[in-house]
Amino acid sequence: MARNATNKLLQKAKKSKSDEFYTQLCDIESELQYYKNHFKDKVVFCNCDDARISNFFKYFSSNFKELGLKKLIAACYQEQKKELFNTENGENGFFYEYTGTEGEIKHPGSTDIVYFNGDGDFRSPESVELLKQSDIVVTNPPFSLFREFVGQLVKYDKKYLIIGNINAITYKEIFKLIKENKAWLGINLGRGVSGFIVPEHYELYGTEARIDSSGNRIVSPNNCLWLTNIDNFKRHEDIELTKKYFGNEAEYPKYDNYDGINVDKTEYIPLDYDGYMGVPITFLHKFNPDQFEIIKFRKGSDDKDLSIGGKCPYFRILIRNKRLQNKSLNGSVNNSRQ
Ligand SMILES: C[S@@+](CC[C@H](N)C(=O)[O-])C[C@H]1O[C@@H](n2cnc3c(N)ncnc32)[C@H](O)[C@@H]1O
Repeated sequence: MARNATNKLLQKAKKSKSDEFYTQLCDIESELQYYKNHFKDKVVFCNCDDARISNFFKYFSSNFKELGLKKLIAACYQEQKKELFNTENGENGFFYEYTGTEGEIKHPGSTDIVYFNGDGDFRSPESVELLKQSDIVVTNPPFSLFREFVGQLVKYDKKYLIIGNINAITYKEIFKLIKENKAWLGINLGRGVSGFIVPEHYELYGTEARIDSSGNRIVSPNNCLWLTNIDNFKRHEDIELTKKYFGNEAEYPKYDNYDGINVDKTEYIPLDYDGYMGVPITFLHKFNPDQFEIIKFRKGSDDKDLSIGGKCPYFRILIRNKRLQNKSLNGSVNNSRQ
């Protein structure tokens, strides 16, 4: 087989493998604690979740009263654990609705779920019908369909808090949402998401792979983010700036193909530079839209990757300090260059 085709196959296998990463309750709790006041009287939809095993379902059913939820719906694509539940309807998806009147449960049983006529794909009309009835979608969707998943949430104008791979920032559709302040990163990122439960057949790779006290097989890819359009405190906190550009120009080389300077780490962003700066994508984790403006991603004025002396640093996001712009506009003296 040609090398390209083999690579493609490998990539596909890798992608579909991470589609079977199940989220741990501890990681859900550690992010959800920051959004508790957004759930009152809301219908929450976990649309890639088997209510019988999903920790998203468990989190919301266990905290149903505390959050003041109106309804919780979980919908699942085909039969996720045929061997575990031993059911006949392997090709059909199913869903489960919880209103809190059923008494306290963590998970429903197999006889409580309702089968769809179709496969329960999040894009299927039956699942979309449930989406329409919902206010907030919270889940870890299949990574290989991340763009489509977010696209659907945008189309139906839903609030969401979802897990994705950090690379998702580099997708043009996702970056556009972030640039326009229609989506932002959650609180936990990278190592902040401790690991995922993987199926039996999945190889435990990496130094942090483990089996937890309940026998769950866990891998820690340390490369995930939460993407959301629900407000959180972090995006209102300024990044503390301590470095200066003027006097240290050599540390901030100019790009060959853009009128801006390169900054290697978010904490090196100078406090006195009012022009364009290229920063690493992890900047987005600290981004406060009142402090900085995102200009564009990765490319210089010639539409080629940003370069310095012919070399391209890893993806950069071009930003500008808004507060320095405001100062200049208000006519107050910005004498940092003097
Ligand atoms: C990354 S896993 C996460 C599962 C669960 N949400 C969790 O966090 O534990 C993604 C899930 O989406 C399911 N899935 C794959 N394709 C799907 C589709 N087209 N529609 C809905 N779910 C899908 C996968 O089978 C898998 O269970």
